Amino acid sequence: MSDNSEVKYGRPSATTGTSNLGEAVGGADTARRPVTVPEIRARKGGMPLTMVTAYDATFARMLDDAGIEMLLVGDSLGMVVQGNPDTLGVGVDDIVYHCKAVARGNRWAHVVGDMPFLSYQVTPEEAVRNAGRILAEGRAHAVKLEGGAAMAATIRRIVDVGIPVMAHVGLTPQSVHALGGFRVQGRDDAAAQRILADAHAVTDAGAYALVLEGIPGELAARITEEVSIPTIGIGAGVHCDGQVLVCYDLLGMTADLRPKFVKRYDEGHTRVVGAAQAFRDEVRRREFPGPEHTFGMRKRPVPVTGTG
Ligand code: KIV
Repeated sequence: MSDNSEVKYGRPSATTGTSNLGEAVGGADTARRPVTVPEIRARKGGMPLTMVTAYDATFARMLDDAGIEMLLVGDSLGMVVQGNPDTLGVGVDDIVYHCKAVARGNRWAHVVGDMPFLSYQVTPEEAVRNAGRILAEGRAHAVKLEGGAAMAATIRRIVDVGIPVMAHVGLTPQSVHALGGFRVQGRDDAAAQRILADAHAVTDAGAYALVLEGIPGELAARITEEVSIPTIGIGAGVHCDGQVLVCYDLLGMTADLRPKFVKRYDEGHTRVVGAAQAFRDEVRRREFPGPEHTFGMRKRPVPVTGTG
């Protein structure tokens, strides 16, 4: 296939062969083309990658406009969208539904659909079928699943049918009850060795990238140095090949939840509450809607009437 294949078969690209490092801040689309799995792999050790969760079309478009390279339709939606205390109640239908919305809003970013609890752990056949649905119906470009050595054979099966898999080790939220809560993992030598072995196992199984969640920075740095695929950290220090945050955390949408690993880049909760209060107050004072927000009657031509 020639270098022009992307123009023929991919999404429209004005700039085949140019940089895709997210310089398009402010919407300079001429500098952008779709972010692909090979490109993500090639960023190992290079300019750090960014991934943010998205659950709907509007947020997907804003994050894509910001030059975020990867949008994760995370099963964190069970907590931040559905209001549950953990991610365990999310189903494949939920992920497919939210992936569809994100895919419609997105233009350039790489969309990853999370495989929910029990959608891949029962049999590899079910795992392949569910991963396939997330791509075929949800229009995601890849799936993510939690687990290390125990999931290696499943990852291999999914990868073998042509579905890219992002792995996820360390604090794996679907195991919240086994872990005794959302706790940092790998703090002692034996646990760190197990996570290191998990990272190697998923890499050998064919994963194209690896989320490292809730582990000491030194351990994440060592894994990043040893594995050949990009590591994407969350609560794993600065030495990963990229970073991921839940969009509601990044935007400061919660009043009281302030985990150590999150940096709030805005105070969304204060701003949204403030905006809603301003609306409420203006409505009560009959200041909104003003004339500029109000439709008038269509002006009818005045009928010409004869005088006699
Ligand atoms: O579901 C999710 O949002 C995640 C990220 C926190 C990595 O898995």
